[in-house]
Amino acid sequence: MASRMHNHEAFKADEAAGIVVAAGSGSRLGGHVPKQFHMLGGKPVLRWSVEAMLRCNKIAEVVVVAPSGSMAEIAGMLPADARVRIVAGSPVSRTESVRNGLAALAGRPPRHVLIHDAARPGLSAAVIEELLVALEDADAAAPALPVTDALKRSGPTLQSVERDGLVRVQTPQAFRWDVINRAYASATDAAVDDLALVEASGAKVVLTPGRAELMKITYPEDLAVAEKLIASPALRVGSGFDVHGFEPGDAVVLCGIAIPHTKKLEGHSDADAAWHALTDAILGALALGDIGDHFPPSDPQWKGAASIRFLQHAVKLAHDRGYHIANADITILAERPKIAPHREAMRIATAEAMSVPADAVSVKATTTEKLGFVGREEGIAAQATVLLSR
Ligand code: CTP
Ligand code: MG
Repeated sequence: MASRMHNHEAFKADEAAGIVVAAGSGSRLGGHVPKQFHMLGGKPVLRWSVEAMLRCNKIAEVVVVAPSGSMAEIAGMLPADARVRIVAGSPVSRTESVRNGLAALAGRPPRHVLIHDAARPGLSAAVIEELLVALEDADAAAPALPVTDALKRSGPTLQSVERDGLVRVQTPQAFRWDVINRAYASATDAAVDDLALVEASGAKVVLTPGRAELMKITYPEDLAVAEKLIASPALRVGSGFDVHGFEPGDAVVLCGIAIPHTKKLEGHSDADAAWHALTDAILGALALGDIGDHFPPSDPQWKGAASIRFLQHAVKLAHDRGYHIANADITILAERPKIAPHREAMRIATAEAMSVPADAVSVKATTTEKLGFVGREEGIAAQATVLLSR
């Protein structure tokens, strides 16, 4: 890769370039250091999106547009990669900064170009991939999110604005090279964004799914939100443990499967110790307390509720925070009944309950060699470990 760039060979047919504009002063955030150079999760804000672009093998070059006075300093913030080039931007206008980025590519134009704000560190390979796929059939593409808040125009009197059909457009905004190059040739400084320059020309523009984490750091309070959304760990682990005693009955329920036995587990509803342990493991991974905090038996809506509701609620809490269940490992401690014949059904029921592939769930069982309360057949214990991934 390095030698190809230095040889100034042409871009391959399917290759794109990225432009990351980082020449602004961040006046709304304030302070002495522009926001794109602040540290976020241990690295400069700017570096996050440059790294995301470099991870995508369709991006053959990344042009970083930096303040002209601090080019060397910015080089030190970026990965030492031959695909990264730094050029000077304009302190007064983003449009001018983008223009400088495009000019840097003009000698050896790529087929597609992605123009991105350095102030949006939450860029992912998936977003880039979706934009490049969209460009197969469009002149331009950009990630967008529906507007969910009520909209008003403030002034002497407050006026409601119709929200239907309105979207918030983020970056990267992706273009066929000739389309954006032509648009910039006649661009003025008044453009809202890069997309605005091509909209009027009748170009075909496609919107791809936006992301909360693609937020732009603009005001001081955005730094803390970005830290939570973007820089929190990509993996989280949790463990859970539960015990239920026996009472007279004819089956125990474990991982949603009724296993015939001469006793049942004591507790409201199904007393599924395995899913209770798993629910606790997920809550533990999220540092959200335990099953008793979320589903107090004193609350009528949870009294006697089936364990699948607890489990699915915990999975939803994970999803809401941007995590999915990477895998779960459950161990049942029971002298009797024999678990082995039911393991496969338990695994599948658990995977289905969490909407994950079956191979993401393991169910194991052991006796305790007749020792302790499990060995005396006073009850059953279950433990679970879960890994959450972003
Ligand atoms: N940008 C740029 N050159 C400019 C202005 C902005 O390269 N003359 C870049 C910023 O560095 C940022 C992105 O464009 O990554 C989006 O702009 P914005 O959020 O408005 O950043 P600033 O202009 O730096 O902030 P402010 O408007 O608060 O001063
Ligand atoms: Mg600005």
